[in-house]
Amino acid sequence: MKEQDFILKSYDATIKQGAVKWESPSNIALVKYWGKKEHQIPENPSISFTLSNCKTITKLTYTKKESRDFSFEVFFEGEKNEAFKPKIKTFFERIEEYVPFLKEYHFKIETSNTFPHSSGIASSASGMSALALCLMSIEEQLTNAVTSSVVEKSFFNKKASFLARLGSGSACRSIEGELVVWGGNKSTESSDLYGVKYEGEVHANFKDYQDTILLVDKGEKQVSSTVGHKLMFGHPFAQERFAQARNNLSELKEIFASGDLKAFIKIVESEALTLHAMMMTSMPYFILMKPNTLEIINKIWKFREETNSNVCFTLDAGANVHVLYPYNEKEAVLGFIEKELASFCQNEHYICDYIGLGANQIED
Ligand code: DP6
Repeated sequence: MKEQDFILKSYDATIKQGAVKWESPSNIALVKYWGKKEHQIPENPSISFTLSNCKTITKLTYTKKESRDFSFEVFFEGEKNEAFKPKIKTFFERIEEYVPFLKEYHFKIETSNTFPHSSGIASSASGMSALALCLMSIEEQLTNAVTSSVVEKSFFNKKASFLARLGSGSACRSIEGELVVWGGNKSTESSDLYGVKYEGEVHANFKDYQDTILLVDKGEKQVSSTVGHKLMFGHPFAQERFAQARNNLSELKEIFASGDLKAFIKIVESEALTLHAMMMTSMPYFILMKPNTLEIINKIWKFREETNSNVCFTLDAGANVHVLYPYNEKEAVLGFIEKELASFCQNEHYICDYIGLGANQIED
């Protein structure tokens, strides 16, 4: 599909008001998106596990208005929030062409996360995807009124992902589960414009895969992803990195089919360390890991060597560690985390999550 296919052409804007509600999860990339072109087009394809417990719940109430400008208010966890407004305004500006009813309504955005705000867990993926899904439900209500034809589920999901991408790239991978690919590549069905559910063969070893998020640093992100992605412009190793990501994705495809967990670990950990290596070698350069991040990585490696476990780690653009492991190792790995890793987390805080199926609409 092309960008133009997502432009909403006819709708009934005489509808006075309504409300829709969605919950949408976060996701954790196995092959990382780091570096983008104009209009949120990724430099390389990425693939992620959709999560279950870490999610954003957003209610969007719309009321018909007269003036031809954006009008919205944001409530975060029940309180009026001004800080989120600029990012949402930018999002609205980017997507208006595709959802032209945006200026015809006043929006009340009521949003909350299931994870603590100051946990260092990025809420942009779950937050932007929840908002995009709400807008798609409104689009559905306004179009049903004129055409009486239903919006196809696959179009709904694609456009929700397309809109979410324009809010935050990784958000386009949060609509569906369990694995989502975003970014054109030779080895899987995918697009630069939206994320698609990975349709290749997936071995039972990956069923109910677990992700325990160790909160090493709950502070504000030291480098915003917008700044981070820009550092890939003119980066001396950028082209090699983008090629490596494409290659890793095609290798992962084989691994998902064969269930080879040792090979999975190599790619996933290498991706995490490469992401950080790119930040360490950009100009300006950053170290986003903390001493406790390294302590945890070393403990995981030692545990793996001693027990032949298939536990591994991945990282986002921050100090927190995502500990990934198969379901059948849950008891052993949780025991290890509690005994040996929890002490490296702020206030011994970690969040247990697992691979999930994607976003859900909530009847209010
Ligand atoms: C390191 O999606 O947050 O988590 O498109 O600028 O909003 P923007 O960036 P964002 O970048 C996420 C980067 C990452 C890797 C990943 O999720 O693929």
